[in-house]
Amino acid sequence: MLVMTEWYDNAVIYQLYPKSFQDSNGDGIGDLNGIRQRVPYLQSLGITAVWLNPVFVSPQVDNGYDVANYYAIDPTMGTMADMAGLIHDLHAAGIRVIMDFVLNHTSDQHPWFQDAISDPHSIYRDYYIFDGKNGQRPNNWGSFFGGSVWEPDPAGTGQSYFHLFDKHMPDLNWANPEVRHAMTDVALYWLAKGIDGLRLDAFIHIAKADLRQNYPSDDADPVVAEPFFANLPQVQTWLRPFCAQIKADYPHALLLGEAASANVNLAVDYTSQHSALMDSVITFRYFPTDTKKIDPAYPAEFQPQPLDWAAFKQTQTVWQQTLSHVSLPTLYWNNHDMARVKTRVAHNETQAKSLALLMYLQRGLPIIYYGEELGLPNITLDQATVAADPAVQQYLHQATAAGCSQAAAKADVSATHKLAARGPMPWTAEATMGFTTGTPWLTSAEPPAATVASEEQDPASMLHWYRQLIALKKQPVFAAGDWYLLPTVANAYVYQRELGDERRVVAVNLGDEAVTLDLPVADLHVILATTGCQGNGQQVTLPPYAGCVLSNEE
Ligand code: GLC
Ligand code: CA
Repeated sequence: MLVMTEWYDNAVIYQLYPKSFQDSNGDGIGDLNGIRQRVPYLQSLGITAVWLNPVFVSPQVDNGYDVANYYAIDPTMGTMADMAGLIHDLHAAGIRVIMDFVLNHTSDQHPWFQDAISDPHSIYRDYYIFDGKNGQRPNNWGSFFGGSVWEPDPAGTGQSYFHLFDKHMPDLNWANPEVRHAMTDVALYWLAKGIDGLRLDAFIHIAKADLRQNYPSDDADPVVAEPFFANLPQVQTWLRPFCAQIKADYPHALLLGEAASANVNLAVDYTSQHSALMDSVITFRYFPTDTKKIDPAYPAEFQPQPLDWAAFKQTQTVWQQTLSHVSLPTLYWNNHDMARVKTRVAHNETQAKSLALLMYLQRGLPIIYYGEELGLPNITLDQATVAADPAVQQYLHQATAAGCSQAAAKADVSATHKLAARGPMPWTAEATMGFTTGTPWLTSAEPPAATVASEEQDPASMLHWYRQLIALKKQPVFAAGDWYLLPTVANAYVYQRELGDERRVVAVNLGDEAVTLDLPVADLHVILATTGCQGNGQQVTLPPYAGCVLSNEE
């Protein structure tokens, strides 16, 4: 067991998508003053920290992940004074603040990039990655957002610049020590404003392999060549001084890395105390899917893929066990880049409640995505959103050509598209949901599945469930206790937490048939359960998809 010394050792983080939480000025876009109005709600949840998606000045090509000025707040979000006010109000409510920190790339509107393309001899040229000549791409690598990672230099030099994401998001050249210093300065600037931590966006990509090599492929199109630009050793070399400087000045700052493709071994590298890098990482490897269900006749991109439960249980167990003496795993079901758990995994409300128990009562740092506490599914994307995305149009075309109905193909898109997980928070049953007095920036073709107002009235609601769960999570046995798996049937997931004499067992039925499970000791009784669970001496019986927590204490 690790010694608990930091505030984040027993934190419960709430990921808040600022554009979609609360609008305060009627422009339909959530903003900082809107969040300030909702601090009492955040406090009522019992969460202890918020992570805000990016709020810096941005042309919003990628909803704020394309930063044009790291030192100012985007006007749609508010002002620096509003940010100071928000930090103040959250701190007064006992809630810490984690900001998103986009360090792998900037917007093409950033002054560094603008200078770099205005003059090939600009001192900022080497802040980015320019290569090739005569308009030829240096390699066949593909971008995460489609197409090549190379885009012609707008200055017309015949070179190209490198972008792993959108072409309006050029990658920074972290091999350049000036870039590393400049980004360290940005981080320190925000920490000096009183924030409590940073989520390091896409940090695993800051190092690239030799650019003058193709990724072996028979394909004529560019290929996403992850081994050439993810988790290379220089990532650690370059971030070590960055993290060390932050920890020297702000020893209690949480460094939470987004490490999408990191396996558990890399997570150890990134978070062990010997590495002196981050405190915790978010992997995207938590949710292995059953790829056999993908229809090869049309693109996999928007086809819903069911969770592979056996692989999921295995993955959870491996992460819990491997990090037990290393760092806190992050615990989450969804975020702004993936479909909501209610759409992606849970068949019904009972299962959504059980899955929350399963995930968050493990050892680690819960990150609850706004609206998850209401059991919200993805929104149904409206026609305008569907029409605006070329990848969606292509999917609809190919899926219908392969025999899918138009309605089914559209349903696939709403079930998988990342925008469908970013809908405005439904506070009330009014048409604009208490979110805005104007027109929301993103609308659903359907009324919201639930609202805060209605769930507040219903003691059996998901909202009340999450409040109970969060209160439970703060017990020392769940924050600091050991974790171990208990043997069980294929359709269940059962683990124990233990601290001194205290024991808790979390038991979840993953399937559609009731299960009866043996318990390790006789004196356990149910302290939180979905309906119909029955504890009886050394056994517990769970109806389909049900879950419960048992304790050896009152
Ligand atoms: C991260 C963010 C994602 C963004 C990308 C580029 O993966 O979570 O939303 O598009 O980085 O910044
Ligand atoms: Ca607004």
